[in-house]
Amino acid sequence: MDGNGRWAKKRHQPRKLGHRAGQKALRAVVEHCVRRGIGTLTVFAFSSENWGRPAHEISNLMELFLRALDKEASELHQNGVRLRFIGDKTGFTSTLQEKMLAAETLTANNTKLVVNIAANYGGRWDITQAARRMAQSFADGKLVSGEIDEQQFGNFLALAESPDPDLFIRTGGEMRISNFLLWQSAYTEFYFTPVLWPDFDEHELDQAITAFQSRERRFGYTSEQLTGSSDA
Ligand code: FPP
Repeated sequence: MDGNGRWAKKRHQPRKLGHRAGQKALRAVVEHCVRRGIGTLTVFAFSSENWGRPAHEISNLMELFLRALDKEASELHQNGVRLRFIGDKTGFTSTLQEKMLAAETLTANNTKLVVNIAANYGGRWDITQAARRMAQSFADGKLVSGEIDEQQFGNFLALAESPDPDLFIRTGGEMRISNFLLWQSAYTEFYFTPVLWPDFDEHELDQAITAFQSRERRFGYTSEQLTGSSDA
């Protein structure tokens, strides 16, 4: 969800108004995902590296997360949305951690749409914490090292319960992954748009989905193999 700061700057407003507009955009996108029958939406709300931002911006963001949880969790619940947080929660205040846990518990049985919010998340952090927990399992005698495969490793990652993403959307014009779902995006289709996140609406999401639908996903196979044509 990149571009909140630039969106605000263009309007000569403080960055926090950009983040607030970003929250509105997220709400609209979540609602549209429900309408489009999308099963899982994972958003990058705060990276492990974002702690390096100026202290006042971090405190604005933390305040916004707190208020958003208070305001949105019950409405999301009423709409059948399950909320999950991925990332190192221990980096947040105990109040925020409690609210995250409460929202996860409240929405745990909802099945319409799973919204994973990546907060204090980094793809390398995720792979490292999975390796650490796997090593512990091995030390506890629950795992045989020679039997470790991709599937087993994936079970230790933060998104173990979610399928690999089909489509990755980055707003704001940058064309990089910035330490998002490094393991999970091995065969994800990438879509980059210059649209700043607060301007990303239902129409923009539809456009991204249309672009996705025109891609041929080969997963390492040939086109002929996938279509079953005679050259296969
Ligand atoms: C990146 O834009 C955005 C963020 C670091 C914060 C994302 C937060 C929201 C969209 C608020 C709503 C989220 C939740 C979970 C309630 P940037 O600040 O890097 O923008 P810039 O590149 O234009 O400076």
